[in-house]
Amino acid sequence: MGRIYLDHAATTPPDPRVVEAMIPMLTTHWGNPSSIYLEGQEARRALDAARKLVADLLGAQPKEIVFTSGGTEADNAAIRGAAFAQRDRGRGDHIVTTQVEHHAVLHTVEQLEREGFRATYLPVDRDGTVDLAALEDAVGPETTVVSVMTANNEVGTIQPVAEAVRIARARNPKVVVHTDAVQAAGAIDITPAALGVDLLSIAGHKLYGPKGVGLLYIKNRTPWQPTMFGGSQEKERRAGTENVAGIVGLAAAMKLAWDESAARTAHTRRLRDRLLFELPERIPDTVITGPANPDRRLANNFSCCFRNVEGESVLLALDMADIAASSGSACTTGALEPSHVLTAMGIDPDLAHASLRLTVGKGTTEADIDRVLATLPDIVARLRSLAGPV
Ligand SMILES: Cc1ncc(COP(=O)(O)O)c(C=O)c1O
Repeated sequence: MGRIYLDHAATTPPDPRVVEAMIPMLTTHWGNPSSIYLEGQEARRALDAARKLVADLLGAQPKEIVFTSGGTEADNAAIRGAAFAQRDRGRGDHIVTTQVEHHAVLHTVEQLEREGFRATYLPVDRDGTVDLAALEDAVGPETTVVSVMTANNEVGTIQPVAEAVRIARARNPKVVVHTDAVQAAGAIDITPAALGVDLLSIAGHKLYGPKGVGLLYIKNRTPWQPTMFGGSQEKERRAGTENVAGIVGLAAAMKLAWDESAARTAHTRRLRDRLLFELPERIPDTVITGPANPDRRLANNFSCCFRNVEGESVLLALDMADIAASSGSACTTGALEPSHVLTAMGIDPDLAHASLRLTVGKGTTEADIDRVLATLPDIVARLRSLAGPV
């Protein structure tokens, strides 16, 4: 019996077709795309083709794409770039985001507060859906940036981004709207025009592409300024020699994700629904976190908390049983604090400590799910009996 990997929200195994697309950029076309001679031009051609491809997939123009070192950099650049550009135009210093964003957004906004900006962190309901009435109250004439994630990395909640954009713009037409689509890309429609956003972040490694590469979509004429300085790469919006192999891999991964989206969604949804409906039947006192309605969460996401058991112990026992799982976000594993997402959703901190996230992938099989359904109830029962009566 091999290992079962159920942490696709943390990262995904690179698709062999993506790796194949990247290899020539590491072996033959390794030139610097800023060089004028042949080697450079070969790399430039690959870079331009990748930019055109991802722009087409997003219904965007190539000049609206800036490649970054991943989701974190894209989120930082989006929010900082827009916040400073808006402030320089005298439009205000107020940023609105949600309490359930990834730390790449939350910590960026917190840093901006330390630098003199003001921020509002919108509450969410029990499902993790942003409170749109609170958004309407929060956005005012001084609001410059609104950032609402497309889908949550811990509990899979799909946010009403298009509606949030309409509400924010009705209150202040000059507001710049960003969405962190790192988890949603390839899973649901994230076309910027459909969502109505000005800025959108994507990371390669969440869609079977390489790590350390991502992109920021910047709608034409959006008030935005660079946050990285040096060379004139990316039309002076992101200095630094481009990660050509990574970018080619990102583009190949996005193309495959878009082409195979329906099949991947149907597959992961079928397997995930088994977890969603069968695990609570087999394990007493399982509290599903995130939307109970499977349509309102990412198709591959299952998350829950078990009463009277330590989450970390469940993860270790699963690992011993050759099943890779997570407590929520990879970034909070090992942290003593319960997840900020679960606590924002009103889940008791004690219960939030016993969280489990299983995210299935395109390579997950029915047999994998059978094994999880057979293994996990015993693990939880054993840990509960060790903990003694409560
Ligand atoms: C929603 C979300 N945003 C941003 C990131 C950060 O992306 P990266 O790991 O590429 O920096 C992640 C990664 O877990 C994520 O899930």
